[in-house]
Amino acid sequence: MTALDLPQLLNLTDMETAAQQIMPPDALNYYASGANDEHTLRANRASFSRVKLRPRVLVDVSHIDLSTEVLGLPLSFPVGIAPCAMHGLVHPEAEVATATAAAAAGSLATLSTMSHKPIEDVAQAAAGRMWFQLYLYRDREVSRDLVQRAEAAGARALVLTVDTPFLGRREVMLRSPLHLPEGMSLPNVGRRQPGTEHLDDLNYLNTLFDPSMNWRDLEWLRSVTRLPIVLKGIHTAEDAALTVESGGHVWVSNHGGRQLDTAVTPLEVLPEIVQAVQGRAEIYLDGGITRGTDVLKAVALGARAVFLGRAPLYGLALAGEAGVRHTLELLREELQLAMALCGKVRLAELGPDLLRPST
Ligand code: LAC
Repeated sequence: MTALDLPQLLNLTDMETAAQQIMPPDALNYYASGANDEHTLRANRASFSRVKLRPRVLVDVSHIDLSTEVLGLPLSFPVGIAPCAMHGLVHPEAEVATATAAAAAGSLATLSTMSHKPIEDVAQAAAGRMWFQLYLYRDREVSRDLVQRAEAAGARALVLTVDTPFLGRREVMLRSPLHLPEGMSLPNVGRRQPGTEHLDDLNYLNTLFDPSMNWRDLEWLRSVTRLPIVLKGIHTAEDAALTVESGGHVWVSNHGGRQLDTAVTPLEVLPEIVQAVQGRAEIYLDGGITRGTDVLKAVALGARAVFLGRAPLYGLALAGEAGVRHTLELLREELQLAMALCGKVRLAELGPDLLRPST
């Protein structure tokens, strides 16, 4: 598919279907899969369709402003790109293309520790619109080096993934283990330790993560960076409160249904998290967003911005940077129309009164 064919793809589900037809099987297995029976993977999407909208009418909606800010960075609309590993599985320009598209859209790209492209190259493409996702390694010196490189390259925040002491059990990956093609290394992972040759690439990553990571490690992280810290993978009011007490921001996520199957969905726990945070930190959300109305619902319930995980990867697989841009633009147009049809002209006007909870 070329960029010229993209207009035929009218929504993110069209993009997903088209991408899945052309993606290499390894990439498709890895990106599309969830943990165990994939209940949570499906529930993330379903939770959005269960919430109904209560539109207001006879409002002048001829001008709509979708702009917002995350940690002081202006966004043209409240959508960023979540960290996902290994963009190079679907496109040679990998995370550089994704970041370029995010910058062009006035959005924000979160670069995964498990990227194919070096931090500095992606930061340059992102033009100041980049956060860096961190997996805390057992080897803290390697983590420290990554954090400091990200900060020096211009990352605006660190996103520490907190729901992955171990990778979840994605059974499709057990049936078809991931072996990265020759020459497609992960620069932030370094050389394989001797004695790990028998492990496929995901199981090797598992050996790097530190399962002893706990709240005290945040002090260490704060001691090696001046960047704001966002904790990604918060599911409960209790952990949201601890996040705020530790000086962090809250990213509500169940890792796209890839970690704990049957975990709660971000949208359903957002109200309790907003209540626990009480405006003391920013709150973001990912998981299951495919429509502008999904963005609208998350913002109405208190998310400052939402993030897209798989959707930009499908755009990237289809047409590189232009594909990611198309993904973002589709969502922007849908959000704009949804705002108008709800009688809202600014994000600040969105609140829980717009929603009728599921029954
Ligand atoms: C995953 C990790 C690497 O979900 O974030 O596969």
